[in-house]
Amino acid sequence: MKRILVTGASGQIGVELVPYLRKIYGESNVLATARRQVPGIVSEGGPFELLDVRDGKAFSNLVGSFKADTIIHLAGILSARAETMPQESWEINAGGTFVALECAREHGAALFFPSSIAAFGPSTPQDNTPQVTAQRPTTIYGVAKVASELLCDYYHLKFGVDTRGLRFPGLISYEALPGGGTTDYAVHIYYSALSEGRYTSYIGPGTYMDMMYMPDALAAVVQLMEADPSRLVNRNAYNISAMSFAPEDIAASIKRIIPSFEISYDVDPVRQAIAESWPNSLDCTAAKEEWGFAPEYDLDRMTEDMLKRLKEKNV
Ligand code: SER
Repeated sequence: MKRILVTGASGQIGVELVPYLRKIYGESNVLATARRQVPGIVSEGGPFELLDVRDGKAFSNLVGSFKADTIIHLAGILSARAETMPQESWEINAGGTFVALECAREHGAALFFPSSIAAFGPSTPQDNTPQVTAQRPTTIYGVAKVASELLCDYYHLKFGVDTRGLRFPGLISYEALPGGGTTDYAVHIYYSALSEGRYTSYIGPGTYMDMMYMPDALAAVVQLMEADPSRLVNRNAYNISAMSFAPEDIAASIKRIIPSFEISYDVDPVRQAIAESWPNSLDCTAAKEEWGFAPEYDLDRMTEDMLKRLKEKNV
């Protein structure tokens, strides 16, 4: 990677990935794009352009004029929000990926695609979910993720585009809040622990999902995109996860630092059903073997860092 265009740059991943990439590859070599300009490091710390990923002409013009050799395609609507607007979400999530792939083909760029645990469904084995297994998701977000994984495979096979992808678990971070996801509770709980000393979870007890702390996710993107292509058997998309927990586990981890912290439950049936359709824990062997995936943060280490960082932000 030398010249990188990032879509969806003002989302939860983008606001951290863009500065991370600018630090490694140079400020002027990372073009951040988003549908809206949000003040801050992404739009002010280097090149920034407005872009709706459904606009193929504008997308292609930017890839061409910036001379991007890599597209990091983050733009998308998260799972729970997508259920409230399935048609538009399909256009942005699946349609946007198709446009991004066409731009990559046209300009000879590589493409990173963030798939998700949402690419699995109720008929997928839930524990130690294999890299290659049944993928019949029941959300529009998941359907678009599977379609995008397959499109990435197709563009690699048919046109030789260097497509690479990760199936992200729930991502926990302190810079920007996620919006409209099912795993968002695992971010909100830390904010609430500090501001109110308690948290009411919309996900019920005993509901396990894969999770990861943002620094490990950022490192994984760069590691995968810089990996020797001859070692990549799976390409699209690798299972990755750093931990699997239920709400009571993250609550117990917070209690180690804030002993008076209390969790209660007010389950949201929509997000609970989505969570139950996703795996409990992924098998990440392929990512470890093919490009050396090695996350550093477990639940307690992440909790210590999250609470420290959020305190510094006066949350
Ligand atoms: N974290 C995402 C969500 O909850 C899944 O990729 O929608």
